[in-house]
Amino acid sequence: MGLQERVEQNVGLLIVLTLLVISVGGLVQIIPLFFQQSTTEPVAGLKPYTALQLTGRDIYVREGCFTCHSQMIRPFRAETERYGHYSVAGEFVYDRPFQWGSKRTGPDLARVGGRYSDDWQRVHLINPRDVVPESIMPGYPWLADTPADASNIDTKMRVLRTFGHPYSDEEINSAAKALEGKTELDAMVAYLQVLGTSVKTRR
Ligand code: HEC
Repeated sequence: MGLQERVEQNVGLLIVLTLLVISVGGLVQIIPLFFQQSTTEPVAGLKPYTALQLTGRDIYVREGCFTCHSQMIRPFRAETERYGHYSVAGEFVYDRPFQWGSKRTGPDLARVGGRYSDDWQRVHLINPRDVVPESIMPGYPWLADTPADASNIDTKMRVLRTFGHPYSDEEINSAAKALEGKTELDAMVAYLQVLGTSVKTRR
């Protein structure tokens, strides 16, 4: 019996060999990404999130904003005309986990930083319909009354530092202080306003 026949008549062997071939193909595509500068190095000017921005980011995840908003501008004309320069991998090296998403009930937020004033963002988050009458986005009024949680911010930053986020001791030690007197709304606005600002866009 030839090799081909033997493989075709033995389902177990066929499965094992198929998996082997597929994984080689997959690894050949994936492994180089871990070593390519364009996917592992931060873009020029990218800074890790400050204590306040990082807190806002955690609230973004907690509130499930990603279920309606992506943070990933694809390299297509229709996208770049609307949102600005397409997203590049080096913008996300300090995003753990990244918030790329794929669901766009609302617009992409990858470059929303600086598009509106802080005040607009505040009003919009408390009740979107106050600034965009036709909006279907839910309001998040409790963010304005909830103090930003400073209890473990230094631990979070220390953990991120082990992953290579360049926080100084000084930044970590003053993190809790930076959140003093801030609400979750302040944190969320700080986070939204920095999104995508490390890459200069035409807008
Ligand atoms: C049910 C879906 C939904 C959820 C959940 C949601 N949004 Fe939205 N969002 C929208 C829609 C639709 C719009 C467009 C209308 C508007 O501006 O309100 C929008 C608009 C926005 C805008 C303005 C974007 C632009 O470029 O004009 C920001 C900023 C924003 N959302 C932030 C958030 C944040 C932060 C959260 C989580 C606290 C959130 N959204 C949760 C649907 C959603």
